[in-house]
This record gives sequence, C-alpha cells and structure tokens, in this order.
Amino acid sequence: MSAPAAKAKSARAAHSSTDGSSTAPLLSLAGVHTHIGAYHILHGVDLDVPAGRTTLLLGRNGAGKTTTLRTIMGLWTASAGSVRFGGADITRSATPDIARLGIAYVPENMGVFSDLTVRENLLLAARGARDADAIDAGRLRWIEELFPAMKKFRDHPAGLLSGGQKQMLAVSRAIVEPRELILIDEPSKGLAPTIIRNMLDAFRQLKAAGATILLVEQNFAFARELGDSVAVMEDGRIVHRGSMAALAADESLQQRLLGLSLGAHQ
Ligand SMILES: Nc1ncnc2c1ncn2[C@@H]1O[C@H](COP(=O)(O)OP(=O)(O)OP(=O)(O)O)[C@@H](O)[C@H]1O
Ligand SMILES: [Mg+2]
Repeated sequence: MSAPAAKAKSARAAHSSTDGSSTAPLLSLAGVHTHIGAYHILHGVDLDVPAGRTTLLLGRNGAGKTTTLRTIMGLWTASAGSVRFGGADITRSATPDIARLGIAYVPENMGVFSDLTVRENLLLAARGARDADAIDAGRLRWIEELFPAMKKFRDHPAGLLSGGQKQMLAVSRAIVEPRELILIDEPSKGLAPTIIRNMLDAFRQLKAAGATILLVEQNFAFARELGDSVAVMEDGRIVHRGSMAALAADESLQQRLLGLSLGAHQ
C-alpha cells in the first residue's frame, strides 16, 4: 500500500472509531479551484458528502459537475483548496491511490470494455481478483439480481449491450466490491423510462445497503427520488445546498437554480 493510501486508511479507521455521533463528512471539498490548461473551471467549490447518504450534485450543462468528480478522483489536480476523504488529504494523491482507498467512479462515458464479456468486465473491475472464482459469489449474485441483464448477457461481449445495459454494467463494475464512496456521473442519460425505473430500483437497493453516493444528474425526477441532500453548481461554484426534500417541494427554486419549467419533473 502506498503512503497516502496507508495514511488515509488509518485516518478513516480513526474517523469511524468515534461513537457514531460524529457528523464529519466522509468526503469534503473546501475552496477547490481547478484549472484545465489555461481555463479556470472550478472557482472555490465547497462540498460535503456524509457517510451512508446520497448527495446529489445538480446544475446546468457546463456548470462544472464532471470537473468536480474528476478533481475528486485526481484526474484533474486542484490548483487551490483541499479534498479530504475520511479525514485524509487526497488533494494531490494519484488516481490509482484514490481508487485504492475505496472510491469508485462511473464516468459519463461509462468506461466499459466492448471486446470483453460482461463477466470479464466485472472481473477486471475487482481489485485483486485474478479469476472469476476470486470475486465474492454472493456479491455477484446480488449484482445480477439488481441488474438481471448482467446475468442474461454474462458471456456476451459488452459491445453488444444496449446503451442502458452498458450503463448498468458500468454501475455494476463500480460495486463489484464494497466501496466507501461511489461517484456516478449521469447514470440515467439517454435511457428509456422503463430502464430508468430499473436503474432507480437498483440505486434504492444500493442506498438501503448503506452505500455513500455522490450522484450527478440532469433528470430531476430521477434525482429527487434518490437524493438525501443536494448541492447545485453554477459557473464552477456551489450556489445552493440543502435537503432534496426542500428543493423538491419548491418549484420556483427549481426553476431559478436548474431552469426547470413548472411541471417538468412530473
Ligand atoms: N478538457 C477540457 N478542456 C477545456 N475546457 C473543459 C474541458 N472539460 C470541461 N471543460 C469546460 O469546463 C466547464 C465545465 O465542464 P463540465 O464537464 O465539468 O460541466 P458539467 O456540469 O459536467 O456539464 P454537463 O451537464 O454538460 O455534463 C465547461 O465550460 C467545459 O467547457
Ligand atoms: Mg458532465
């Protein structure tokens, strides 16, 4: 284990050894600025993700949601501010070290390997598993129950899956082993309503199992079903934070923050 990984692991142990009354967030961004080349994209992002909850990151196109997730994963490095996970500073950690700490990332473009079978894709996502037998069989069954297509197409090349099924495979890859935190970028994008409902059911079960999720979504109907708390981004800053229940109940706030027309989320 690398030094930062060991450091964060012990910090996390200390974090969770409190009596449970601690409200310290599992993940915390403070004053994060990110530059991509010459462009200044994030302008001081403050964001807390509490353990065991689902936090929604919303905002219009280009607001900086994906850049925030990529900065957490170390795919972009913050130029100022800090990213802390389980009490450890991971602002400048390398992406593989961050992943090893237990943060899974499902990117917008899904990241599945088309030439490999569904099962091989799952296998590759499991750290340390050298062959199919090394993956926890109970967990695989659980994933196949969450997403029956993963069972049906187990031995098919992932390239033959539909867009929705690929999305499900991408989420399955993220949860093939227990993770401390799951970052997911727009899982409902481009999916038909029935598939969105399947995805919603799966996320509800994930939540019920105690997962900590930071979810980026444009589909407010989907987001409101899952979110405990919500942060809204605009121009590289968080401009609103609160409970999802409060935002879901306030249509004029939705309209102001997200540009949703009244009734758009029915
Ligand atoms: N590789 C890049 N090079 C230059 N600018 C970039 C790059 N990636 C993103 N940006 C810019 O950063 C800003 C934020 O982009 P980001 O992808 O984080 O937005 P987003 O909130 O995820 O949007 P969407 O909802 O459309 O996915 C945008 O103005 C975008 O053009
Ligand atoms: Mg995005």
